[in-house]
Amino acid sequence: MNSESWTSRLSRERIVVAPSLLAADFANLESELRKLETCGVQVVHIDVMDGRFVPNISVGVPVVEAIRKVTTLKLDVHLMIEEPERYVEAFRNAGADSLSVHIEAVPEPTELLGKIRSLGAAPGLVLNCGTPVDAILPYAKYADILLTMSVPAGFGGQKFHADVLESVRKLRHAARPDALIEIDGGIDVDTIGAAAVAGVNIFVAGTAVFHATDYGEQITRLKNAAFDALAARRS
Ligand code: DX5
Ligand code: ZN
Repeated sequence: MNSESWTSRLSRERIVVAPSLLAADFANLESELRKLETCGVQVVHIDVMDGRFVPNISVGVPVVEAIRKVTTLKLDVHLMIEEPERYVEAFRNAGADSLSVHIEAVPEPTELLGKIRSLGAAPGLVLNCGTPVDAILPYAKYADILLTMSVPAGFGGQKFHADVLESVRKLRHAARPDALIEIDGGIDVDTIGAAAVAGVNIFVAGTAVFHATDYGEQITRLKNAAFDALAARRS
């Protein structure tokens, strides 16, 4: 069977918003997911933090497994952990559709990206805010997702760093044409436009979505801000 991967299919959509569950109501994840499904969301972003690679601790394998049981949304799992190679299989078995690892945790990621692919998940590579893009460029072609952090990894609700957009532009050129170019941190209606113009097509948004009263309306506002910026660039 030679069916197209879900990341390749999504790469043809110019603007995709992936809500980050880190800002969701953890006591009511099922209803949060249901609301996102109603709004036409296709991908949710799940932040895994180990208290070592980043100072914060969030969720692990059992939470991904529980989420998998109640939704068919694609689960985009962002591993902010040391030694991710020890855990990718468990996260895949729990239902992750993509597994993204940090170049700072795995400086030579070719083998691990291949392993993630062989497990049946989309392999992603992440560049933390502050890491030179040169660290990741040689491996860009092996990833289905290239994620640039626009805040230092570890916490939601931080301020967007516009200087990372230069890295995004370089990654867009180095990536396969059907790879997803993702950004994570501080995305809101004021910052999404510049990221879209730089070549991002999948936008992680935690605070911006979950602190809004109407998630669907807010996602539409985010998408419109991105499309407006793209249109303004063309005119
Ligand atoms: C931060 C996480 C993000 C976080 C984004 O390390 O990787 O996914 O949830 O949150 P906001 O959108 O609030 O910046
Ligand atoms: Zn994240």
